[in-house]
Amino acid sequence: MSDEKAEKAEQTEQAGTIPRQGEEGGRVADGEVLLKVTGLQKHFPIKKGLLQRQVGAVHAVDGIDFEVRAGETLGVVGESGCGKSTMGRLITRLLEPTAGKVEFEGKDITHLGVTGMRPMRRDVQMIFQDPYSSLNPRHTIGTIVGAPFRLQGVEPEGGIKKEVQRLLSVVGLNPEHYNRYPHEFSGGQRQRIGIARALALKPKLVVADEPVSALDVSIQAQVVNLMDDLQEELGLTYVIIAHDLSVVRHVSDRIAVMYLGKIVELADRDLLYKTPMHPYTKALMSAVPIPDPKRKNAKSERILLKGDVPSPISPPSGCRFHTRCWKATEICRTTEPPLVELRPGQRVACHHPENFEDQAPQDTVLLTAAKEAAELVADEVLAESAQTSEALATAVADGEVGSEEATGTTESAESAESAESADGADSGESEESAEESAEGGPTDK
Ligand SMILES: Nc1ncnc2c1ncn2[C@@H]1O[C@H](COP(=O)(O)OP(=O)(O)OP(=O)(O)O)[C@@H](O)[C@H]1O
Ligand code: SF4
Ligand SMILES: [Mg+2]
Repeated sequence: MSDEKAEKAEQTEQAGTIPRQGEEGGRVADGEVLLKVTGLQKHFPIKKGLLQRQVGAVHAVDGIDFEVRAGETLGVVGESGCGKSTMGRLITRLLEPTAGKVEFEGKDITHLGVTGMRPMRRDVQMIFQDPYSSLNPRHTIGTIVGAPFRLQGVEPEGGIKKEVQRLLSVVGLNPEHYNRYPHEFSGGQRQRIGIARALALKPKLVVADEPVSALDVSIQAQVVNLMDDLQEELGLTYVIIAHDLSVVRHVSDRIAVMYLGKIVELADRDLLYKTPMHPYTKALMSAVPIPDPKRKNAKSERILLKGDVPSPISPPSGCRFHTRCWKATEICRTTEPPLVELRPGQRVACHHPENFEDQAPQDTVLLTAAKEAAELVADEVLAESAQTSEALATAVADGEVGSEEATGTTESAESAESAESADGADSGESEESAEESAEGGPTDK
């Protein structure tokens, strides 16, 4: 820890304004389940005509299960439109789920009303993607960062102004800037203001929706490092949504990969990077530029996914990825693969996983779409894919499944260094969330 950082941590601790998670009564111990999500769904109705009859629904989040453990960082990645933000809004209860269950500290909060949710609002905070639209331009920084206290009727020790100034210094801003307006700050500084606001009520869980994607690349690392330091100092638990794998890689303990409203793989960070099992994960990882000039030939190993993500209004049958997967067979088209733990710490939803024993070996005939998709996959990848599966089949026969040797490692682990995302798409934060945010964090809906 640098001197400056140590000093900052010391100041924070001495003042006792933002205790570490676990120092206050009733907090979940590190490693235990803080948030549990079961069968979570959000379908946005599509209405038409004068009578506004419902004619369909956008299956934004379509049945996901995961848990977030106290003290960890769960990264969530996936292409634009796969439901990452909707998932973030569901777990912070900014959106009402269509189905499923959300439990926080063992308590069912799925359908809590405004009053029931009030104490929860202090525990779960959100950092929004766009620091330009998420801060109310008419309010001073002091008002913005102090809003959560006013909304929750909390009077911090020493008064709101003193506490806000302390929060500003915790996130590396000058406390003297209390009376300035958002337009006087750069993007990175504005995101620090958003972070200060999110931390005001000493939350247990912080959900950050693409916290750095609107920022200049040179500033991104600073903000990510700040979040990382704060996690260590304050014992925070994070869910960090990103389309940039490099951001997620460096800060996450576990990573969930989403595709069309589903989690297709959920694994410990190192396992996911060393031996990705879902073909989509592998494609996401291979689609990253490789900065090492010695490895420039590795470019040929890129997997270019064919076509766009299908519409979430009528997602493909069976495995949703079967229209773009180079391994898809008939069973992929007809039967949805469940998300199962194939190796300790690695859950995957796939009939023919990479780096693991085939789950449907009897089904060998590729779909036409798979043959077309395979044309876009480098021979090296296909060969490697066949090789790892073969090696595993042998290992299974020898009873060695799960060992490092059996699973092998892939090039993609290395090529994921300093990665950038496959889609690079940037979704503007909605007006709606800017307002929610400007009001000082989550609001009820
Ligand atoms: N309020 C809404 N009403 C109708 N459809 C919505 C609404 N919010 C999101 N959607 C749709 O739900 C799907 C998932 O959207 P979401 O914003 O969660 O994706 P995302 O993964 O965050 O994408 P991005 O990377 O672009 O931010 C999209 O098809 C989107 O158009
Ligand atoms: S192999 Fe089949 S189940 Fe696995 S991702 Fe491809 S289409 Fe889906
Ligand atoms: Mg989003």
